[in-house]
Amino acid sequence: MLKPIKLASKNFLSSLDTSHEEFLHILELAKNFKNKGLNIKPNKKVLGLIFDKSSTRTRVSFQVAMSRLGGTTVDLNPTTSQIGRGEPIRDTARVLSRYCDVLAIRTFKQTDLEEYAKWSSKPVINALTDLEHPCQALADFMTIKEEFLDFKDVVLTFIGDGNNVANSLILCGALLGVEVRIACPKGYEPNSLLIDKAYEIYKNKNLLKITNDPNTAVLGSNVLYTDVWSSMGEENQKDEKEKVFNGFTIDSDLVSKADKEAIILHCLPAYRSKEITDEIFESHKSRIFDQAENRLHAQQALLSCIL
Ligand code: CP
Ligand code: NVA
Repeated sequence: MLKPIKLASKNFLSSLDTSHEEFLHILELAKNFKNKGLNIKPNKKVLGLIFDKSSTRTRVSFQVAMSRLGGTTVDLNPTTSQIGRGEPIRDTARVLSRYCDVLAIRTFKQTDLEEYAKWSSKPVINALTDLEHPCQALADFMTIKEEFLDFKDVVLTFIGDGNNVANSLILCGALLGVEVRIACPKGYEPNSLLIDKAYEIYKNKNLLKITNDPNTAVLGSNVLYTDVWSSMGEENQKDEKEKVFNGFTIDSDLVSKADKEAIILHCLPAYRSKEITDEIFESHKSRIFDQAENRLHAQQALLSCIL
């Protein structure tokens, strides 16, 4: 029977905290949780959820994943705990890790997440930061694998803001050797340090392309992916970004230039008629709700390897 493996890294703060083999093992476990009712119950473990930003999918999929693993979650809402009053992360982390077996944290700065991980005696999972969204990327690549069975010859094109989601796609692309193209307006490219890291990992450096032209980026692409133009915490940039991102909407014109069997992904939540048209969002090419469902299976698999 397929079993969880112990990951070499204690924490999952970045997509690069798994190796190529560990990533594929998590996807295989996730597939078995989804299709075969794989039954693994690591003994009434407790996951603490600290969310400094809103969430529907990540929060609920973690809650359900823990429940399916025979454990439970505690919602450590920062506004009703001492976290919101400014108790230092190093104190919060030392206390909460004496109660919980693992912590999933959604916050702004990656350095704050790293501070939690430094002081927590238990594993810490990145539930989204401004820099990365590695749990999302697990579900994304699971969805791509379901569609194309393997990653060979898959071209994944992300159109929009070079944000946390784009950063994680780049890192996972490098880890798995998948061709990733990012098309974003000038000045909105993904994090340059992470791009450099990805180039260090890619055996074939031509597999990562950053461009400002969505029309050429989509040519021959098998997966078109987008996300909101203004992420949480960037609400004050919304008006300006809507002007700058004109031409970066995934619409029928852009889709017609991609491979004719191309699928559409979006991590959600979406703003229709901004980064994606309603027609494309609801089209038969969309795998957006399979992708959202896969958050649950991928995180159940990740937790089973971490607990
Ligand atoms: N995609 C995603 O992380 O959604 P939530 O913000 O609802 O968790
Ligand atoms: N880039 C988005 C993703 C939301 C799941 C954000 O950070 O708000």
